[in-house]
Amino acid sequence: MEMYKMEASTVDETLSIAEKLASLLKPGDVITLEGDLGAGKTTFTKGIATGLGISRTLSSPTFTIIKEYMGRMPLYHMDVYRLEGSDEDIGFDEYFHGDGVSVVEWAQFIEDYLPEERLDITIRYKGEQSRVIEFVPIGEYFHNIVRQILS
Ligand SMILES: Nc1ncnc2c1ncn2[C@@H]1O[C@H](COP(=O)(O)OP(=O)(O)OP(=O)(O)O)[C@@H](O)[C@H]1O
Ligand SMILES: [Mg+2]
Repeated sequence: MEMYKMEASTVDETLSIAEKLASLLKPGDVITLEGDLGAGKTTFTKGIATGLGISRTLSSPTFTIIKEYMGRMPLYHMDVYRLEGSDEDIGFDEYFHGDGVSVVEWAQFIEDYLPEERLDITIRYKGEQSRVIEFVPIGEYFHNIVRQILS
């Protein structure tokens, strides 16, 4: 599995990397986000929302698991932290194969439901403002996208 790294030294850099990613996405794409509490998963998702032309403020969906936003296509923002240790399926397939982009925080907790082709992203804390963003694309389609983000 290939991994590509980028460093974001400010929140704005994280947002702009996420915006660039969003500009390359199409309906049915699935992005997973891993990283410790406060690493920047929701922040990264905000950048994706901006990049999809969503003007509504994105907030953490912790208590609802899924929130939907409408931009140039729908964004399904999921935070499945509360599903740790359960194997509850809340209809993931319909989102993952639906007509929007799915972004899943704490995706490791629903590993069995994730589609094979997806982009796995891990955000690592490096310093107060700096983060390392690791991309692991699965499938040729997402490899291409990551190459474009890095170029
Ligand atoms: N370079 C950076 N990229 C992202 N966030 C940053 C960066 N520098 C500082 N931060 C701050 O780190 C925090 C990240 O919070 P955020 O809610 O995005 O994390 P999270 O990974 O979604 O946490 P949780 O596990 O609770 O869902 C924010 O307060 C943000 O301003
Ligand atoms: Mg979050």
